[in-house]
Amino acid sequence: MAMLISVRICILHVLFLSYLSCHGIGRGVVALGINYGQVGNNLPPPEKVLALLSSLQVTKARIYDTNPNVLSTFANSSVDLVVTVENNMLARLADPQEALRWVGTHITPYLPATRISGIAVGNEVLTDPDQSLACNLVPAMRSIHGALVQLGLDSYIHVSTPNSLAVLAESYPPSAGVFKAAVYGVMSQFLEFLSTTRSPFWINAYPYYAYKDDPANVSLDYVLFNPNPGTVDPYTNLKYDNMLYAQVDAVIFAIARMGYGGIEVRVSETGWPSKGDADELGATIENAEIYNKNLMSRQLGNQGTPLRPNQRLDVFVFALFNEDMKPGPTSERNYGLFQPDGTMAYNVGISGSSSAATSSITSLATKVITRTEEFWSLIYWMFVFLLSSNFN
Ligand SMILES: *[C@@H]1O[C@H](CO)[C@@H](O)[C@H](O)[C@H]1NC(C)=O
Ligand SMILES: *[C@@H]1O[C@H](CO)[C@@H](O)[C@H](O)[C@H]1NC(C)=O
Repeated sequence: MAMLISVRICILHVLFLSYLSCHGIGRGVVALGINYGQVGNNLPPPEKVLALLSSLQVTKARIYDTNPNVLSTFANSSVDLVVTVENNMLARLADPQEALRWVGTHITPYLPATRISGIAVGNEVLTDPDQSLACNLVPAMRSIHGALVQLGLDSYIHVSTPNSLAVLAESYPPSAGVFKAAVYGVMSQFLEFLSTTRSPFWINAYPYYAYKDDPANVSLDYVLFNPNPGTVDPYTNLKYDNMLYAQVDAVIFAIARMGYGGIEVRVSETGWPSKGDADELGATIENAEIYNKNLMSRQLGNQGTPLRPNQRLDVFVFALFNEDMKPGPTSERNYGLFQPDGTMAYNVGISGSSSAATSSITSLATKVITRTEEFWSLIYWMFVFLLSSNFN
């Protein structure tokens, strides 16, 4: 009997070790994504930006256009780029010939040296005040994808569009997630496109707005990923300890309600402003630092949402720099992790000077990994204990 137990323990041990190796425990670098917006008159040139991203070990970035200067500077670097088709181009690119010409001018000349991995067709088109944009969205996506197929590039570059969370009519509890009736028509064509091309749904999600709009009812710790009692979805029984994951799961449910089950949801933008106007409650350096630091440690731990715990949630933080030329309230110009001169806007555990960055990001990663390891070690010993007690 004792031998049987020890054989079982041995099998468990092997399973445990293979879990560790499959999940990259011990591997220091995890893909961090960041939005590289350029609405500023004081931003550093792309060479400096590339050096900054490399020093931070950031390997995924999104730009809001197809700036040739950025695309050529990022050649032969380790950064994957998502580029954007500007909203005002959608009508023209609905024509397949125009789309083929656009890909030939803005994409193919930079391949393969520049790693372009995605094309965002417009930004927040479905909730744009200009409603004429929406009817061109899916035709433009189909044309661009068709051009990529024709050029043999479709398996390297996916096509999608970032949506605002305002496409949802309901987002709480997550299982009640449903799209607004006004976007149903285009949304169903859009989901059909994503499903047939196996592309991700991108959502721009800012728990900050929920807090700012209703600070009396929304817990700051819940939106900042701080320890808090959390909430339980009464229909799924899933527990949420932060709002971002609840918002993502609400999107997954809304997609499922329209009949599409297997589409991956990724966060194309999330962030927290470090400064705001008097009426922008919560927009402080302290909160921005906590939000981004907590988000990053969850990213380094490869977390998924409660609904899809085994699928790492892909997140692009907004944004790399404070952008002084953005219109709107003060918060809009203060989402950056960095000041335009490359110094940190606040400390999220990654820093701009190359040697410090490497060590601090690695130590952050190590901390997360140690916690995960301890957790699985605990689970492992619980199994061992249960197994042994079975035979007694
Ligand atoms: C990238 O590397 C390739 C191969 O080493 C080289 O031929 C090419 O000129 C490089 N491109 C740029 C823009 O540096
Ligand atoms: C939100 O907070 C206000 C003020 O505390 C309260 O009167 C109201 O009932 C709350 N609303 C919800 C939906 O909880």
